[in-house]
Amino acid sequence: MCRLSAFDFSTRALLNTISTLRYEENTLNNIARRKFLRFLAASPLLAASSSSRLLAATNSASEIDSYLIQSPEQALDVFDFRNLAKHTLPIAHYGYLATGTDGNETLRANRDAFDNYYLRPLRMVNTQHVDTQSRLFGTTMNSPIVIAPAGSQNAFHPDGELATARAARANGNLQILSNVSTRSLEDVVEARAEPVWFQLYPTNNWSVATKMIRRAEKTGANVLVLTVDLNSDSNRIMLGKYIRADSRDCSACHSASPNAMLERKPMYDDTGATLAGFDTSSMTWDFVKRLREITKMRIVIKGIVTAEDADNCVRHGVDAVYVSNHGGRAEASGRGAIDSLPEVVTAVGGKIPVLVDSGFRRGTDIFKALALGADAVCIGRPYLWGLASFGQAGVEKVLQMLDGELAMVMGQIGAKSIADIKPQHIAKS
Ligand SMILES: Cc1cc2nc3c(=O)[nH]c(=O)nc-3n(C[C@H](O)[C@H](O)[C@H](O)COP(=O)(O)O)c2cc1C
Repeated sequence: MCRLSAFDFSTRALLNTISTLRYEENTLNNIARRKFLRFLAASPLLAASSSSRLLAATNSASEIDSYLIQSPEQALDVFDFRNLAKHTLPIAHYGYLATGTDGNETLRANRDAFDNYYLRPLRMVNTQHVDTQSRLFGTTMNSPIVIAPAGSQNAFHPDGELATARAARANGNLQILSNVSTRSLEDVVEARAEPVWFQLYPTNNWSVATKMIRRAEKTGANVLVLTVDLNSDSNRIMLGKYIRADSRDCSACHSASPNAMLERKPMYDDTGATLAGFDTSSMTWDFVKRLREITKMRIVIKGIVTAEDADNCVRHGVDAVYVSNHGGRAEASGRGAIDSLPEVVTAVGGKIPVLVDSGFRRGTDIFKALALGADAVCIGRPYLWGLASFGQAGVEKVLQMLDGELAMVMGQIGAKSIADIKPQHIAKS
């Protein structure tokens, strides 16, 4: 069994070699299978029987779901990257990327909840020129789609967060860097050639936070995203099952030392952090007050899902609320993130911006959040699927596709700018 923990991931050459072998093996299997199916379908003997026609039809339909793209250009939606990532990544790494808590109930709810809302197109609006430009904290962005923080990106591609940074820069998307990244903030800022937002997991040692914030400030980061939804741990059963199924010897990357995970996370260098310090179950809103006292960075709170906490954010002088259930990886609430958005938007009442993530996969999903009052929509797994599939080129294609889909939906619904997207464009089923 591969020895890994929930936080505990990174690999370079090994990942590359295994991925390449699995990709080639898989491609060969697919080609052989397609040839066999074509042979079956063409056989005059079998063609005579209706059951064989049914067999061929069933097989080709299932092939549609398992089709593997060979270049980013072949992708028709972000799920094409998921299929490839699933087949190329080592199984434990794919488990880290894909799974949620308990039996994945919240993960599924994140997708299912979009079906609770339908769109209301208003016709005969001139949408010859659709513009997805958006503004957050006075900065203009090409798109309201933002790269959500995700740790350990070397587990998906040897270039890790550097590839993501280059892709996000090329496509003009804002990026939030996790503090459990496998590449340092300084290297990411250099790859992107401009500052990024910095996400902080708190520990119970105040000096760890202070040291990291000072380091972030030096890179020009002016927004701090505090993640508050893992303070009481999370039940990653499904991840455990994927790890159990991985027969590789992973000790080269995942040593048995108690703080092994932190040793591979450059933002923890010289901070004195220990894994035991990640027990932040005693954290309260005082932490936010203290943060406010030690930094001039804007503070965004990530992991808010209720009106009560949105109100707390406003009362504690937070600069933006980030609605998220961590992509179904925090508590098993069983509630889709899009269903949390309206109560948060109402509680905030336009005083500060609202960001949202968890389950966004299509232009329609993004449009729905904007119509419900979000100012920006962050994506997690889709860009990681792109990264695992083709590195920077994969992330770029995912971002382009989602931007393109959003622009198409805006045209269909009758909104030529993000400011034109209004509550009348959406209703609850
Ligand atoms: C592999 C992976 C690693 C993540 N690491 C972090 C992290 O370090 N910090 C954080 O605040 N959120 C982290 N998240 C959560 C994302 O920021 C985001 O909330 C979530 O992925 C959004 O849901 P989606 O993946 O369905 O788009 C991670 C998510 C994934 C899938």
